[in-house]
Amino acid sequence: MRISTGLFEGTSITNMVRLQRLKDICAMTSLLLAAMLLLVFISDPQNVSYLDLSNTDYPRAAYAEQNPNASQKIYSLLKQRLKGIKVNQSQRCEPNTTIANVSGFDTFSPMIQDFLYYRHCRSFPLLLDLPEKCGRDDKPEDVFLLLVIKSSPKNYEHREVLRKTWAKERLYKGKMIRRIFIIGTDGLGFEKEKLNKLVALEHQHYNDILQWDFKDSFYNLTLKQILFLEWMESRCSQARFLLNGDDDVFAHTDNMIDYLQHLKDNDGSKHLFIGDLLKISYPKRDQRSKYYVPHVVYEKNVYPPYCGGGGYLLSGYTALVIYKMSAKVQFIPIDDVYMGMCLAAVKLEPKSHMGVKTLGWYIPSKKIDKFDPCYMRDLLLIHKFPPKDLYFLWHEVHNPRLQCDKL
Ligand SMILES: *[C@@H]1O[C@H](CO)[C@@H](O)[C@H](O)[C@H]1NC(C)=O
Ligand SMILES: *[C@@H]1O[C@H](CO)[C@@H](O)[C@H](O)[C@H]1NC(C)=O
Ligand SMILES: *[C@@H]1O[C@H](CO)[C@@H](O)[C@H](O)[C@H]1NC(C)=O
Ligand SMILES: *[C@@H]1O[C@H](CO)[C@@H](O)[C@H](O)[C@H]1NC(C)=O
Ligand SMILES: *[C@@H]1O[C@H](CO)[C@@H](O)[C@H](O)[C@H]1NC(C)=O
Repeated sequence: MRISTGLFEGTSITNMVRLQRLKDICAMTSLLLAAMLLLVFISDPQNVSYLDLSNTDYPRAAYAEQNPNASQKIYSLLKQRLKGIKVNQSQRCEPNTTIANVSGFDTFSPMIQDFLYYRHCRSFPLLLDLPEKCGRDDKPEDVFLLLVIKSSPKNYEHREVLRKTWAKERLYKGKMIRRIFIIGTDGLGFEKEKLNKLVALEHQHYNDILQWDFKDSFYNLTLKQILFLEWMESRCSQARFLLNGDDDVFAHTDNMIDYLQHLKDNDGSKHLFIGDLLKISYPKRDQRSKYYVPHVVYEKNVYPPYCGGGGYLLSGYTALVIYKMSAKVQFIPIDDVYMGMCLAAVKLEPKSHMGVKTLGWYIPSKKIDKFDPCYMRDLLLIHKFPPKDLYFLWHEVHNPRLQCDKL
């Protein structure tokens, strides 16, 4: 008889029996492990369970329905547990199912329906924090301009370019610039977990991401905005000015500092809210519009004045006033309009600044290229560019040999 040295050597009866035994042992072990894990979860003493992915996207794509494999679920729960992210179940926000009774609900897109179900939810677990972005409690830092950039988990390239260009953390003419990306989560199950891990790695490296556990979608932008202001109130209330903008804009942060520094009130303690102003605009009532808003979401037929959300500048004072007011103003999905609504509620006005072009812009002469750095040189902010163009522009406007004729 041959002596077998490896599992897969030959196909003798002995080996096959051994293989079978090994399989049995493996199966038994897995079963035991699964049972033990279940016990651990069931016997959790407090009313705290560890991030349960199965319910976060009710009522549409329930994770559990997509992944009937219990072992997979246990595995992912275990991983969350190891990461130590706790969610207090009694704090989880339940969807408002009564809302499905409003007339026309069935005709709304799944996105609008979803928005309505979760409209009242304002508290989500913070997954990535920046406790010392603005200094420590006992040693706060004098942040002159805080760049608050709306990004999303997948927009890695945008963040990467911004870090190297206009959003670089630095002192400019003695004024401190700090940077924060605000994001939610993307994907479901393993995909979500993977993206979260990537973002966490990025955060470890750059220390510039605030992430909450809510779905990062177009309709959740207002939520993102208000969660940020809540964070700011507790962690960075001393910031003098904020640039609130998208991750695909070109923001001339040098010019911003020059502008803000020369204001009469340049300590951020007075009202300031400037950008590309829309004095009068109307809610879109056509279902095909990206900005469609049914009456149940916004009743009035005209919006208050607001600045286009691609980017606007505001003082720390105004940011905190808006946050306080937001508790009394029901969410609408369009975040820039929502800021206008909060301002109107406290009788403050947003103002226009010529240098901010977020709502479409034109070039003063046909002879000039759209990306002409001479044109950009004097502006504050322009919407919107792919990462490589941002990189190019930032370097060109700083090129000391840049020759600009009069336009
Ligand atoms: C469930 O597990 C089986 C066996 O591991 C696998 O083939 C199947 O794809 C899994 N189903 C899902 C939905 O993940
Ligand atoms: C969970 O939240 C509820 C309501 O806010 C609170 O009363 C309870 O103490 C919390 N439980 C734990 C274990 O933190
Ligand atoms: C919706 O309306 C119907 C009829 O008016 C009522 O019977 C039902 O309880 C309502 N559903 C909810 C969730 O309020
Ligand atoms: C749920 O929706 C109903 C119907 O629109 C509304 O009256 C109620 O205030 C909502 N509840 C919450 C918690 O927002
Ligand atoms: C907003 O985020 C919540 C929490 O993840 C999610 O349940 C909801 O579906 C999102 N809303 C929209 C309209 O995407």
